[in-house]
Amino acid sequence: MLGGSRASDGGSGFDMGKLMLPAIGVGISVAAMAAAYSLSQGSSKKKKGKKDKGPQVTGPKINVYFGSQTGTAEDMAKSLAKEGIKRNFDMKAIDMERFEPLDAAGTNCIFLVATYGEGDPTDNARSCFDWLQDEGKEGDLDGMTYAVFGLGNTQYEHYNSVGTFFDRLRCPPNPSLPFLKFRASPIPCPAHVSLCFLLSLSTPAMQPSPPSNQVSSASSCLAFPRPRGILTRPSWSSQCGKLGGQRVVELGLGDDDKDIQEDFNQWKDLLWPALEEHFGLESTEIADQGVEYRLKVSTFTTEKAAMQVASPKSSSGVDQTPTVEMTVTCNRELYSAEAGRSCRHLELDIQGKGVSYETGDHVGIMAANDENLVNALGYRIGCDLDEWLVVEDDGGTSPFPCPCTVRHALTKYLDINGAPKKKVITAMAEAASDDGEKQRLEHLASKKGKEELTDYIVKGRRNFLDVMTDFASVSFSIAQVIELLPRLQPRYYSISSASNVTPVSVHVTAVVVADEMEGGRMFKGVCTNHLYSLSVGSHCEAFCRKTPFKLPKDPSVPVVMVGAGTGLAPMRGMYLHMDHQRREGASLGESMLVFGCRTSKDDFLYGDEMGQMVENGTITHLVTAFSREVKGERPYVQHRVKQRAADILRMLDAGGHFYVCGLTAMAKDVKKSLIEGMVELRGMTGGEAEAYMEKLGKEGRYMQDVWSS
Ligand SMILES: Cc1cc2nc3c(=O)[nH]c(=O)nc-3n(C[C@H](O)[C@H](O)[C@H](O)COP(=O)(O)OP(=O)(O)OC[C@H]3O[C@@H](n4cnc5c(N)ncnc54)[C@H](O)[C@@H]3O)c2cc1C
Ligand SMILES: NC(=O)c1ccc[n+]([C@@H]2O[C@H](COP(=O)([O-])OP(=O)(O)OC[C@H]3O[C@@H](n4cnc5c(N)ncnc54)[C@H](OP(=O)(O)O)[C@@H]3O)[C@@H](O)[C@H]2O)c1
Ligand SMILES: Cc1cc2nc3c(=O)[nH]c(=O)nc-3n(C[C@H](O)[C@H](O)[C@H](O)COP(=O)(O)O)c2cc1C
Repeated sequence: MLGGSRASDGGSGFDMGKLMLPAIGVGISVAAMAAAYSLSQGSSKKKKGKKDKGPQVTGPKINVYFGSQTGTAEDMAKSLAKEGIKRNFDMKAIDMERFEPLDAAGTNCIFLVATYGEGDPTDNARSCFDWLQDEGKEGDLDGMTYAVFGLGNTQYEHYNSVGTFFDRLRCPPNPSLPFLKFRASPIPCPAHVSLCFLLSLSTPAMQPSPPSNQVSSASSCLAFPRPRGILTRPSWSSQCGKLGGQRVVELGLGDDDKDIQEDFNQWKDLLWPALEEHFGLESTEIADQGVEYRLKVSTFTTEKAAMQVASPKSSSGVDQTPTVEMTVTCNRELYSAEAGRSCRHLELDIQGKGVSYETGDHVGIMAANDENLVNALGYRIGCDLDEWLVVEDDGGTSPFPCPCTVRHALTKYLDINGAPKKKVITAMAEAASDDGEKQRLEHLASKKGKEELTDYIVKGRRNFLDVMTDFASVSFSIAQVIELLPRLQPRYYSISSASNVTPVSVHVTAVVVADEMEGGRMFKGVCTNHLYSLSVGSHCEAFCRKTPFKLPKDPSVPVVMVGAGTGLAPMRGMYLHMDHQRREGASLGESMLVFGCRTSKDDFLYGDEMGQMVENGTITHLVTAFSREVKGERPYVQHRVKQRAADILRMLDAGGHFYVCGLTAMAKDVKKSLIEGMVELRGMTGGEAEAYMEKLGKEGRYMQDVWSS
């Protein structure tokens, strides 16, 4: 094992928190690190109870709260807090769940909050969000200084609405003044458009709706430019401000569709001087920080030895949605043998598992990394996959349940297949012993190397092992790997079955992500390949998640369903649900299913079943768009929506509901087609058509279940 990281049964503790690698080029070498690790062996007992208090700071206390679902805001909060400490602020990253609004008056808070679905906060930010919205009264946050950075993605309709809500801007005293401009990434933004945007933020349409992730309804500001960067107008009150808080720096907005880390860095460039000025501190210049290691990782040859040091906190790991073991009862191919790709239909039995679902809900799947990848990574870093681990942070909590074997951690807990973040490349540069490799990695991790890094990692779809293979002189211990890699996240799937037909069987329709890269290297998606490999009778760790994507209560209400590819999944649940209602004697209203795929013979998902639904009258209009059967422009579902706009509008006039599922880009174009249809057929202005869509959204009659690729 590299770096002497193997421990005896007695265990070894390596407090990574004590080892801060300095700026690139200044630093301690890997050999020195290994020595530090070796030195720590056997000394863990002595260290126990003597908690490292970290550097002494004398500056003001600032809590950095993170509202995070997949870890980006959390990582940012942790790195911000570390940087803050170096700048003499007493900063701490705290889970938003632990924000106590009634104790917040007079404190200093930074909020890093992500947006999901219909302008929804993350689960851990929900209660704070609700409090700010419904319960907070003027004066509750008196004297609280605060700053907000929102995390979002411009692909989504409700771009960064949670960050914006936390930092809610109210109507200006003189609305005729131009009042919005962009500092970090200028976007041409005429004053009247800006005004509309801001006003739309304070209309009820932008009020967050009932808890749900990912499923959204129409919003009011679709046609306005999406701001990215920093909104400048600190003098206005915000949601926190309304309650008495004092904002120290403008709202920062990060766009995950581009470079959210860069957006965050730009915001930090404004934050530090603003904080220093606010607290009357001298400005601090700090050197490039390098990569910090904060976890204490101990390894053991037996579970028994590991159990002796594991604390209850490390056994449970950080909070994750509880899962159940669903039993696979069917796993079959949906595409033709000629399609050249695979789409699986799975049926997961939940009988007696204590979970339930309703038509239109999601299932979250906890996948496992590919066994070969785990073995190859174990071999590359030179670790024994059967060793036992206990991992703890300063507070004794582990990022995942411990003790577990290294193999289990690499298989179930760590995202070893995802695109390595810049931090990982920086750490690799620090750890490379070959000068040429070090320089190359430093370049990739630098501002200048940004595009090359994107080409190499994102376009080249390289994972951690791919990069470790390309840079052979990089050496990491398992402790460093655990520190550097994020936690493997659940993947969500729109349930494709109907709860009134198969209440204890959850169906999944998943297209398998497998692409051949240059040189013959295969990129394989984690979860879909895991699903592909599951045999009947095996288990799948998963949970069900409620969504508001629901059919109207009254089956006679018309419905329009639009889905491309696997976007058909929830629509299948819906037509099966309606079919059951019909067989039970309900009188169904008019219905239209608009479905798009490449060809009628290769990927016409559930084509026979859809045919039967048309024959038995469950679906009144089946409209298809086979994009690769014609020459010239590819017909897509949005084109069909436009062509059938007259029928669709008639159905909507009769109180109908409209559903869209699939890629965000497709959903945007579908909405555009509908608006164009209204303008052309009804003589409405663009504004009127948008207002109509907004009304549908508010009434819960325009629902989207979308994701970005
Ligand atoms: C609400 C919701 C509902 C969904 N419903 C469905 C559904 O019904 N059916 C369905 O098939 N899908 C659905 N999805 C998508 C699904 O959740 C997964 O994203 C999808 O199946 C891919 O998962 P994966 O683990 O196989 O791929 P991943 O491993 O997550 O890879 C997915 C993509 O991430 C990028 N990526 C990953 N690793 C790297 C790397 N090392 N370098 C560069 N790029 C990388 C690539 O673009 C890759 O294609 C849904 C998503 C959401 C949010
Ligand atoms: N997060 C993920 O990794 C993930 C997982 C599953 C699905 N998805 C995405 O979700 C979508 C559905 O996946 P899938 O593989 O089932 O579908 P798919 O087979 O790639 O596409 C289904 C149909 O949609 C068409 N299409 C492509 N881009 C479109 C657009 N902008 N607007 C409207 N139609 C469009 C396709 O046309 P052409 O291809 O012929 O142009 C095809 O006819 C895909 O676009 C896919 O990228 C993402
Ligand atoms: C399923 C899904 C839905 C999302 N919905 C939105 C959204 O409505 N608005 C938005 O601005 N960003 C949206 N995002 C982008 C996230 O907010 C963004 O990726 C953020 O960096 C995630 O932060 P986290 O990792 O801390 O949870 C969505 C992302 C996903 C995966």
